[in-house]
Amino acid sequence: MEKRSQWGTRLGFLLAAIGSAVGLGNIWRFPTTAFENGGGAFFVPYLFALLTAGIPLLIMEYTIGHKYRSSAPRSFSKISKGMEWIGWWQILISFVISTYYPIIIAWSIMYAYFSIGTKWGEDTTAFFTGDFLNVEAAGTFGSMVPSVLIPLLFVWVFVFFFLGRGVKKGIEFANRIFIPTLFIIFILIVIRAVTLPGALEGLDAFFKPDWSRITEGSVWIAAYGQIFFSLSIAFAIMLTYSSYLPKKSDITNNAFITGFANSSFELLAGIGVFAVLGFMASQSSQPIEDVVAGGVGLAFMVFPEIISQMPGSSLFGFLFFASLVLAGITSMISISETYIAALQEKFSISRGKALLIGGGLAFIASLFYANQGGLNLLDTVDHFINNYGVALAGLFEVVAIAWFARSLKDLQAHADSISDIKLGTWWRLSLGLITPIVLGYMMLQNLKLELQEAYSGYPIEYLFNFGWVVAIAAMFLGAILSIKKWPAKDHEA
Ligand code: PHE
Ligand code: NA
Repeated sequence: MEKRSQWGTRLGFLLAAIGSAVGLGNIWRFPTTAFENGGGAFFVPYLFALLTAGIPLLIMEYTIGHKYRSSAPRSFSKISKGMEWIGWWQILISFVISTYYPIIIAWSIMYAYFSIGTKWGEDTTAFFTGDFLNVEAAGTFGSMVPSVLIPLLFVWVFVFFFLGRGVKKGIEFANRIFIPTLFIIFILIVIRAVTLPGALEGLDAFFKPDWSRITEGSVWIAAYGQIFFSLSIAFAIMLTYSSYLPKKSDITNNAFITGFANSSFELLAGIGVFAVLGFMASQSSQPIEDVVAGGVGLAFMVFPEIISQMPGSSLFGFLFFASLVLAGITSMISISETYIAALQEKFSISRGKALLIGGGLAFIASLFYANQGGLNLLDTVDHFINNYGVALAGLFEVVAIAWFARSLKDLQAHADSISDIKLGTWWRLSLGLITPIVLGYMMLQNLKLELQEAYSGYPIEYLFNFGWVVAIAAMFLGAILSIKKWPAKDHEA
């Protein structure tokens, strides 16, 4: 039997875990979410969520991966046979994400190129949805868009290359180069941003606390939602990565480092983004509220417009989109590794074969977003898979482990036996009580909103086919995959 793959060094593992955590969510999601949920006051629920859900769950996932040294479904099945499907479900969620994440990376590659000479012209929204993507109404898919398809192929070659080379020579190697580069680029971006005229007003708007918001349930939901997504928790990712740790590894410490590094990057992004928005507001004498956007709109519509007005615009634009590419590709690698590890173990096949099957299927599925209907499809799938995939799978994961398998004590003993910081009541209370309550409440609130109005005003049938069906299929397929027995001997990756 081959020995299980391992990280070369502790730093290598940390860079890979941070590489997964630091992604588009830090850059285009956190700043806007914080601003819209109380500004400076948002840091209270955010820190609370980090300390009662983010880091405790990260410690739990690291411990499970390290203790059972297997992919997510195999590790969960070793805790309790009935839990295996939760692992497959999480993997299928990651699989779905891995079909559209590379599309965003592909757009970013093109925009890095468009930055040179700011090729997007005056009306950046018309450029993005018109000239670039040729968007058609939701439900029609039109024809393939070559300027998305070509960079997309390029992204997949990259992903296959690094994943094919394995944990140490591929994943660790990639993160060792990309993550330090990303941090350097991003610091340059932030330095440029805060020295722009109007930057201070932007920062002022970002940090100004609106304490009245802190009693709103939706603000707390936003904080927990951000922490979950941002730390890549309940995606089977962190568990898979920690299964490659050497026997002697300080788990708890690693979780704190990952959590704080991710949050620091988020804060940095908040400063950068709002400095730039402050510049835009002052240039056009609009209030900040009118120029704030999040997600795709922020990166591909608002930012290009601002970049055009900036001195040294080509370089700044190029660096900004390069940072999206680097942040995205390291997250993309981590998402795909979840199914590669699990397929290898379940079907006793080599890494190469698992990559060909899992990555191959994801590649084919990704082509469905490379057409004129791609933007709407991506938006819909992303919304449903996050709200009714990740959050729900996270809820099932903690409830199964804390309440049904009652394994928190066991896991704590394992973590404590190799970590400097010892876990206590804080950890068990966070996982056994606080997280299940908050996630349960979050689910109910999300469902209520969902049923009140059609997401983004899309047709109901469209939302059903590409939203609900996708989210629910991930859960069912997970259950089906867990019917097949594991090979008698553990197949080592
Ligand atoms: N954690 C990443 C971010 O903040 C997002 C991500 C989610 C990455 C799931 C991989 C898997 O952007
Ligand atoms: Na993140």
